[in-house]
Amino acid sequence: VRPFPLAPDAAPAVAALAVERGWLPHEEAWRIALAVGEGVGFSEPGGPLDAMALLVPHGPGDAVLSVLSSPRVSGQGLGRRAAEAVLGRTGLRGVEMHAPPAGRTFAERLGFRAAGSSTRFVGRLAGVAKVAADLPGGASLRPVGGADFPAVVAVDEVAFGATRRPLLEALFGRARRACLAVAGGRTVGYGVSWSDGEQLVVGPVVAEEESVGVAMIGWLAGGAGDLDARVDVPDEGRGALTAVAALGLAPRGRIARLVRGPGASAGRRERLHALAAPWAG
Ligand SMILES: CC(C)(COP(=O)(O)OP(=O)(O)OC[C@H]1O[C@@H](n2cnc3c(N)ncnc32)[C@H](O)[C@@H]1OP(=O)(O)O)[C@@H](O)C(=O)NCCC(=O)NCCS
Repeated sequence: VRPFPLAPDAAPAVAALAVERGWLPHEEAWRIALAVGEGVGFSEPGGPLDAMALLVPHGPGDAVLSVLSSPRVSGQGLGRRAAEAVLGRTGLRGVEMHAPPAGRTFAERLGFRAAGSSTRFVGRLAGVAKVAADLPGGASLRPVGGADFPAVVAVDEVAFGATRRPLLEALFGRARRACLAVAGGRTVGYGVSWSDGEQLVVGPVVAEEESVGVAMIGWLAGGAGDLDARVDVPDEGRGALTAVAALGLAPRGRIARLVRGPGASAGRRERLHALAAPWAG
């Protein structure tokens, strides 16, 4: 079986593979992921997708790797082949992976080493969070307008140590809510919530001050309507952990962050309060 490229219209096939793993389909998220990333698939002629790997760029040399294989072909080396098919891309320096506990050894076998983790929170919103009037440093929140986009990309770049413009454009294209934190005329944070089909995803949320990040999470989650809200909180985001629990969301498991190569160490990850998705980094 040879790898073949996966275009965004392969999102239903990837979603079906996710469902085989007991996950929600998240078809709309896969459509975004395949649009901004480079995906390869493996399948028998005429058969369903057996495995896939996806590389989402973080700037010119760094990327986030995701691998998914069917329990039908478990342990046959297809996950490794899929990963190696995209990792062979030229010019690649640092790569990171965000793996659930069951995928962690697989990532380590590929040469990745643990560099942190996050906790996934999911649930129906228990109440509407009040946004504090007095945020630190006189910061205030306001909805994002089109002219704010360069500031959003810049704030994101400092925190992640990578330019992620195409990813952010795609997420903002599906945004339910998006906000900017401004203090003294300076952009000090941004946040976005977007629908992946099944859930309202809150993240990325980036802010210099923890309480600003927490305020943004509360406001962004308020757009969930009749969807469950989901927030992936990195361990660096201590205040956010308390805030999402107060919103009525329950922890649904840990996601390890693993890196290979030099990694995006130039970032300021303490400014991350919520992440978009494991495939997005
Ligand atoms: C992780 C996953 C991709 C593995 O797929 P797979 O096709 O069974 O993996 P492979 O047969 O190619 O195994 C590759 C290596 O990982 C090891 N491995 C795979 N699954 C493992 C497990 N559950 N426990 C321990 N080791 C495991 C294999 O022993 C093999 O080691 P080797 O090549 O050094 O001998 C698959 O289980 C999956 O889709 N899980 C859900 C998604 C996920 O966690 N993805 C990884 C993070 S994005």
